[in-house]
Amino acid sequence: MSHLPTPLDNHDVLVGLETGDDAAVYRLRPDLALVVTTDFFTPVVDDAYTFGAIAAANALSDIYAMGAQPLMAINLVAFPIKELPGSVLVDILRGGLDKVREAGIDILGGHSIDDHEPKYGLAVTGTVHPDRVIRNRGGQPGDHLVLTKALGTGIITTAIKHQVATPESEAAAIEGMLRLNRDAAEAMAPLQVHAATDVTGFGLLGHLHYLAKASGVAARVKAAAVPLLPGAEALADAGEVPGGTRSNERFLASRVRWPPDLSAARQTVLSDAQTSGGLLIAVAADDADRLLDALAQRGVTGHVIGELVPGSPGEITVI
Ligand code: CO
Ligand code: CO
Repeated sequence: MSHLPTPLDNHDVLVGLETGDDAAVYRLRPDLALVVTTDFFTPVVDDAYTFGAIAAANALSDIYAMGAQPLMAINLVAFPIKELPGSVLVDILRGGLDKVREAGIDILGGHSIDDHEPKYGLAVTGTVHPDRVIRNRGGQPGDHLVLTKALGTGIITTAIKHQVATPESEAAAIEGMLRLNRDAAEAMAPLQVHAATDVTGFGLLGHLHYLAKASGVAARVKAAAVPLLPGAEALADAGEVPGGTRSNERFLASRVRWPPDLSAARQTVLSDAQTSGGLLIAVAADDADRLLDALAQRGVTGHVIGELVPGSPGEITVI
């Protein structure tokens, strides 16, 4: 997109391309804005129903990351209809629909094409009050950084494909990817949250880099405080690392200062490309405990993994 003309000036576009935010936000009225996002990908697990549900949870996540409420969704489908039984597609779509219903909305349409490699996702429309949009930018020095899901889904889904993931790792990764970020979004809504995003393809440190850069601040991350899925570090050490995670590591090389004693495998997990990851929330230090309590009340374990600090925008120091 950086090779194309910039969007036309429009005062009602509240969030566009500039900050790499999770969704576009368009003001319809002084008290109402539309939030629009889409995500789709190839299967991350073997079971068709589970794949559909994970893809839907992931697509809905950008709505929650913006502090918005979902309104409706439409399907985006690519499927090899001559090579696989149609019942597989029905299972994918049922998984997606059940997850969307869990979010309290419905799927109202969609589009499909015949394609050798299956792909599934949603375009989701939501609403938010224009004054209550939570963006990438807005984080302030001193804000605590709270993460709501453990890392390692990219590494573990790669290990699943190679049939080397333990049942414990596989179950924990799938449980995390299936979990809606709705409860985390509800917990943060009434608090002094300055910025938030969901952790997906750029990994924890990639998304934190963009959040900090858009906010004009640096960040400090305590490696030991970051929650990891069981087996993720060992699988990274064994080379079960997706291409997306490797490109994140290359991107982050000039943007992250690592402590000399941190293992290569731990660095890889902190950079791991996530599917349907948790929310990364920059909350005023005063409200950090309140946020952890509000998350816990909804059954979500939040972890304070670091803080925003004054410094070169987007620079991350891992300690
Ligand atoms: Co996102
Ligand atoms: Co997204």
